[in-house]
Amino acid sequence: MPTAGEGQVLVKTRYISLDAANRAWMQGATYRAALGAGDVMAGGALAEVVESRSPHLKPGDLVFADTGWQDYAAVSAKHLTAQPPSDPLSHLLSVYGVAGLTAYFGLLECGLPKVGETVVVSAAAGSVGAFVGQIAKIKGCRVVGIAGGAAKCALLTRELGFDDAVDYKAADSQGGGLRRALRAACPDGIDVYFDNVGGDVLEACLFNMSTHGRIACCGAVSQYDGAAPPHGPRGIPGLIVTKRLILRGFIVSDFADQNEKALANLKAWVDDGALKVREDIIDGFENLPTALVGLLAGENIGKRMVKVR
Ligand SMILES: NC(=O)c1ccc[n+]([C@@H]2O[C@H](COP(=O)([O-])OP(=O)(O)OC[C@H]3O[C@@H](n4cnc5c(N)ncnc54)[C@H](OP(=O)(O)O)[C@@H]3O)[C@@H](O)[C@H]2O)c1
Repeated sequence: MPTAGEGQVLVKTRYISLDAANRAWMQGATYRAALGAGDVMAGGALAEVVESRSPHLKPGDLVFADTGWQDYAAVSAKHLTAQPPSDPLSHLLSVYGVAGLTAYFGLLECGLPKVGETVVVSAAAGSVGAFVGQIAKIKGCRVVGIAGGAAKCALLTRELGFDDAVDYKAADSQGGGLRRALRAACPDGIDVYFDNVGGDVLEACLFNMSTHGRIACCGAVSQYDGAAPPHGPRGIPGLIVTKRLILRGFIVSDFADQNEKALANLKAWVDDGALKVREDIIDGFENLPTALVGLLAGENIGKRMVKVR
């Protein structure tokens, strides 16, 4: 059991977030230092303060903290804020956490969608993707999701209000099948592509982009769990030039100064039923490793997290 030093709090994790990025952090330095063998697995959690040596937090406060995969952690209180009450609590880690904010800022600040435009999002039944598609619908766009398997595609159109869905696993991506399936689903071209996966799916979207289209580069989950790909997507830079595309990478924390407004909007949409929250909660700390392997294999629908007893 760690102890809290001066300016720190001792927290008990309640829900630990599972993120595709957990795997990327093992591959090398990203926006944070690389994880090495023997390190505590990094990651964020919704955690309860059990002991405080900081004047602005008290036992019982709930915080979102970079605890890693631990049941207790001593962390600096400097950048922690007590979270407002939430029912259910897990929403603080999904729609009101990194996933909801990533979808919100990536789509609205980087994708810049306009009413009537066609928005495509990959990993569309995942935690970030499911929010992206629904927010694009709220903003008056036509929305097409890309996901693996018929069940996920049916969920997108039947439950989450997407206009259409493309099963990338059923399409022969390398033989041009995904490109053709997207052309059929987006006859007027793609105005905004929210890219969660990179690789062949990004390539298929590039070929279907409209002139002056925007690509919000959020992540590249297709690249995290294997050997380095033999080549990058075809069409770069030619298609970027001829179609005058804008590709913009972002990290959710780039927009932290706008969190308050974003959270107020997300809450209003959840409260009026326009934004549905899908969560995939696995019980038990000991299940964290298999939960991450399963996330990368596409087991999850919505935000995956582990509840710590
Ligand atoms: N920029 C930021 O600040 C930021 C913040 C948070 C997350 N992200 C990024 O957002 C993306 C989504 O992350 P998440 O943690 O929310 O995970 P998630 O979308 O809940 O789960 C990952 C999903 O990726 C799909 N997938 C796995 N391998 C794939 C492949 N080879 N090709 C295509 N799809 C594949 C799977 O769905 P299928 O069944 O559909 O394959 C899986 O369910 C990641 O790229 C992550 O790095 C970025």
